[in-house]
Amino acid sequence: MTVFATTRTPRFGGAEIVQWPLPLNQRNQFDGLDLLAALDAETVPLCIFDPQYRGILDKMQYGNEGVSRGRARSSLPQMSEETIGEFIAGIATVLIPSGHLFLWIDKFHLCTGVGLWMEQWGLEVVDLVTWNKAKMGMGYRTRRVGEYLLILQKPPKRAKGVWHRHDIPDVVTEKVERIGNVHPKPVNLQARLIEAVTDPGDVVLDPAAGSYSVMTAAHQVGRQFLGCDIAGDS
Ligand SMILES: C[S@@+](CC[C@H](N)C(=O)[O-])C[C@H]1O[C@@H](n2cnc3c(N)ncnc32)[C@H](O)[C@@H]1O
Repeated sequence: MTVFATTRTPRFGGAEIVQWPLPLNQRNQFDGLDLLAALDAETVPLCIFDPQYRGILDKMQYGNEGVSRGRARSSLPQMSEETIGEFIAGIATVLIPSGHLFLWIDKFHLCTGVGLWMEQWGLEVVDLVTWNKAKMGMGYRTRRVGEYLLILQKPPKRAKGVWHRHDIPDVVTEKVERIGNVHPKPVNLQARLIEAVTDPGDVVLDPAAGSYSVMTAAHQVGRQFLGCDIAGDS
């Protein structure tokens, strides 16, 4: 089977009746790991996951990280690498064959951290999108304006018939305002990517939704949303 195969394993497109453990298309205060555990295997074509990385605060004791703006971010429920690994294991289970995980990742983890998780859970990196935030961030050496979205796919690896949009560049600029302590991810970029790998009416999963930018993006392109956050409204 190659990425140019035109067929994909059925179950895509929400053709089957699935009992969702939480109400769709709304904010749910719930633990994402419990949501993943309650979902049937191979029911979701796309999960977008934006972990609250603890590692960068622990490992890079530099500059103002963990002091001023870093402190506000630290007040959000953090995820250890072990917890993030548990999330990814759960996501790998609930994805349909050839389904996607879009994993938001910072420069630190991009360079050092995720390969092992992916090998362990059998997901394959198939692309990378760089988000230019058009806003200067932190950094001991260079100042960060970029964040990264790893595009991962559950086997079998396919592009044709699975990736529908071919107008998305791999560097995208989109300015986004902070909401409280949460740094929302770009709605328009996520919406285009959701359109690329799902069909209208499909359910998009985000088990750690923060400001629910994924729900907004999913609705923008006529998809349904299933997700939660362990914290209340952000
Ligand atoms: C980086 S933020 C997500 C931001 C989101 N992508 C957005 O665009 O607004 C990570 C979120 O994970 C949540 N979180 C941490 N542990 C969680 C858990 N076990 N279950 C669900 N959410 C969790 C935090 O409360 C935080 O809102």
